[in-house]
Amino acid sequence: MNESFFYRDGTLWCEGVPLDAIADAVGTPVYVYSVARVLTNIRKLQTAFGPLGASIHYSLKANANLALLRVINEAGVGVDAVSAGEIARARLAGIPASRIVFAGVGKTRAELEYALDIGVGWINVESQAELALLETLAAERRQIVTVALRLNPGIEAATHRHIATGHAGAKFGIEPAVLAAILDYREAYPHLFIAGIHVHIGSQLARVDATLDAMRLAQRLAEPHSDVRTLNIGGGFPVRYGETDNFPEPADFARAMKPLLDGWHIMIEPGRAVVADAGLLLVSVLYVKEQYGNRFVITDGSMTDLLRPALYGAEHPVIPVREPASDMLPAMVVGPVCESTDVLKSSALLPPLAAADRLAVMDVGAYGMVMASNYNMRMRPPEVLVEGRQWRVVRRREMLEDLLRLEQ
Ligand code: LLP
Repeated sequence: MNESFFYRDGTLWCEGVPLDAIADAVGTPVYVYSVARVLTNIRKLQTAFGPLGASIHYSLKANANLALLRVINEAGVGVDAVSAGEIARARLAGIPASRIVFAGVGKTRAELEYALDIGVGWINVESQAELALLETLAAERRQIVTVALRLNPGIEAATHRHIATGHAGAKFGIEPAVLAAILDYREAYPHLFIAGIHVHIGSQLARVDATLDAMRLAQRLAEPHSDVRTLNIGGGFPVRYGETDNFPEPADFARAMKPLLDGWHIMIEPGRAVVADAGLLLVSVLYVKEQYGNRFVITDGSMTDLLRPALYGAEHPVIPVREPASDMLPAMVVGPVCESTDVLKSSALLPPLAAADRLAVMDVGAYGMVMASNYNMRMRPPEVLVEGRQWRVVRRREMLEDLLRLEQ
């Protein structure tokens, strides 16, 4: 928990709002985000990386809610977008095209055309074929496009294998020899200003050393080309999901990078570091059942609302909304979906619970709602933004009509 989420008068609050008030009004499951915490996280990144002259581009794949994007935009950061849909969302939230970085291993022609037409700031290119297509499209438009080449450094990052992206087996980026050859023959791309190297080696990085190795390799490749002096190191700044996690802070990354950055412009693309611990998922207990020695707490929230535990074995703290006064006992917190992996937390410690009691799944502001699905014909939850003592629904709960609308 952080200063935005705390117990007062025996119940859990977000900033100046008791979570029961939100659940009473809009029901559960519901995502609740703290504006104060988002701003604190952005300030922390700005304080760490500002002195390095870094440009910060929030990776909006982590949480693309429009109201939240507006808050983030007002805090003065740009965005990293990975599809035309994300770019459109960023524009709707008021983010200028020049502050959008467009990334992704499989951009379609239509997406590239859209990005060129609105004039995004940077395009991060991930293959020679994409580079050739981009050159053609830029030439047709008589446009000069600023490009970073995404390097696949062939480095193993200390993280979960599903979110490591810079190793030799990953589809991402361009291998060093090919990247060097592209730089040597830049005149083949007269409409592309190849000004930087992008290297995102993964998410939830447990150590800074692999990032430094990747940066050194990128710099070695760029060295002979004096106008390639931007290094976009991507995201990956970790979040403490459990009490026991001990991860480097943004300031630790910044301190370690500083000696490498003389003469370089640096960009970062934090996603979860901005939003993860600013959000929780509020769920209600439907049933409690003891079976073969297990206590199953069956809630109205599920893997369709929060996929991370099922997909990555992610451990999010689950805490009761009513401050626990009695002994905590083991429990398995599960959802209603017809999948054995529909578990929100397999080894929770919770007080005795009964139907209608509420629980909070913590640190789900990143990769929570954006990965929600309609599997089992479930409606995706609403999203609520809390700002001091004010709160508002910034996306309503889906209804049956929303799900049926696209079918004839
Ligand atoms: N930049 C690039 C090029 C990325 O691919 C990503 C994340 C980021 C920045 C932001 O990474 P962050 O700072 O959030 O770690 N669904 C997974 C995470 C997938 C991340 C994909 N790329 C999860 O729930 O952990």
